[in-house]
Amino acid sequence: MEIIKQEVLIIGGGLAGMRAAIETSSQLDTAIIAKIHPARSHSGAAQGGIAASLGNSQADSWEEHMFDTVKGGDYLGDQDSIEILVKEAPENIYELEHMGAAFSRTKDGKIAQRPFGGHSNPRACYAADLTGHILLHTLYEQLIKRKIKIYNEYYLLSLILRNGIAAGIVVYDIKSGELVIFQSKAIVFATGGYGRAFKITSNAHTNTGDGLSIIYRAGLPLEDLEFVQFHPTGLYKQGILVTEGARGEGGYLLNKDAERFMQKYAPKMMEIAPRDIVARAIQTEIDDGRGIDGKDYVHLDLRHLGGEKILELLPQIHELALMFSGVDCIKKPIPIQPTAHYSMGGIPVDINCRVIKDKNNTIVPGLFAAGECACVSVHGANRLGCNSLLEAVVFGRRAGKTVLNFIKEFNFIDLPDNCLDLAKEEINTFLTPRGTEILADIRDDLQYTMTKNCGVFRKEEELRTALETIKKLKTRFGFVKITDKSKIYNTELLEAIELGHILDFAEVIVVGAILRKESRGGHFRKDFPRRDDENWLKHTLAYYSKDGPTFDYKAVKITKFQPQERKY
Ligand code: FUM
Repeated sequence: MEIIKQEVLIIGGGLAGMRAAIETSSQLDTAIIAKIHPARSHSGAAQGGIAASLGNSQADSWEEHMFDTVKGGDYLGDQDSIEILVKEAPENIYELEHMGAAFSRTKDGKIAQRPFGGHSNPRACYAADLTGHILLHTLYEQLIKRKIKIYNEYYLLSLILRNGIAAGIVVYDIKSGELVIFQSKAIVFATGGYGRAFKITSNAHTNTGDGLSIIYRAGLPLEDLEFVQFHPTGLYKQGILVTEGARGEGGYLLNKDAERFMQKYAPKMMEIAPRDIVARAIQTEIDDGRGIDGKDYVHLDLRHLGGEKILELLPQIHELALMFSGVDCIKKPIPIQPTAHYSMGGIPVDINCRVIKDKNNTIVPGLFAAGECACVSVHGANRLGCNSLLEAVVFGRRAGKTVLNFIKEFNFIDLPDNCLDLAKEEINTFLTPRGTEILADIRDDLQYTMTKNCGVFRKEEELRTALETIKKLKTRFGFVKITDKSKIYNTELLEAIELGHILDFAEVIVVGAILRKESRGGHFRKDFPRRDDENWLKHTLAYYSKDGPTFDYKAVKITKFQPQERKY
């Protein structure tokens, strides 16, 4: 089989992957491997903004941005990484602006900034409510300008490590059904998030956490996976994102009694408290019977903003609410509920995006990660809104710079003879008849149990139910029936591979959540409702074993801000 030699391989065509590729392509032969066309990546779904302390409408500083991010993350974030994130934010925004990103403007022509959850100043630079979409297209134009190679509709199957060094990957060409081997000096994972492990999610169908499972199966750890972010405002029933920018612009949250209930939970910041706090407030209102008409939703009311402001600043929200809920938000409140949105955890990396393999921060040569799939731990236990687009560009760019430095002293590594075995076996297993289990049933059961038993509120008994369910589903998955045996665009086969990934990392989320007997940020245990710094101010590292994950823990880096009680 032909082996394609490529100096730098970026896996994933979202914001972090594209930003890394732009950096490396200045000096190195770079290619992006993308499961879907880069311009369809999920970064495009981020709506409300990208954070930076530009201070365009109110004085601001990187120190305040840093403190807000540390506090918002419930003190689990690594403060050396956070300092880099916030200090490099303004130059990254101006760089995007100079590339052509069409940000909304203040009256005097500066980049407009709106308030966002947990930020003490208006810090979200935005393009109406289409910020991710605009940035994605801006970077895609740069790929075209630089003639960066894109292997479009190629799906990563396995990572090839030789003597602990990243040497290449095996991918599946979705269009032809053929396997392809790439040999590379540097491999950057930018494979995105995993919201599709949950029934109610803001995430696209492609967000199945493939990169995480591939790293985990290769014997490398996953960090802090129990920290899942539930965005407070997903459209009722599907979970489609309704931007926090809507509350940043002044939207109210109302229960069945038309009460602005955030008064009880975060009297100072109200609707723009951090997401974990607002999501729990909404869930409490629903659980205590104060949802609208006794149902599982509350209202997001924008009517007082007026039609003109809504159509100028929140046009996408207006359209989504109309299309998916049949609600014209100029005239009626939008039905919303918390929705699985973001992964604070991921592939552990150092501040230069080098993948690390243990609590001593030992690096894996040749392997890098950036964006949502990575855990450089800028978000700690709860991400502030607008810090994810920021992380993607700041750390995408840093990953690229690190690769440029690293590759000078590096050569291609010979690939092991058996490097194709794992991928071939995975495909053959699915295509060989082995039972009658229906793929969609297993996936539905998994998503249901994750939302019900490992959601906004957690407790031991429910988490154990989720774990038992996952184990049973794994057994059923061994008998799944794939009816489509064809090679060209075999989406059934792809869905089976994706489901295998979700089953693997969902177990890590749940077991990590069972073990973490405290409440911190997005991980709230009803049976352990307090944060416990004495025992749990530490990062989780989970390793694969055939009997389920094994765990180790790693120290949190605290530089400027000692943990305090969080009040908003
Ligand atoms: O609410 C939002 O617009 C989402 C932004 C984010 O997740 O950062």
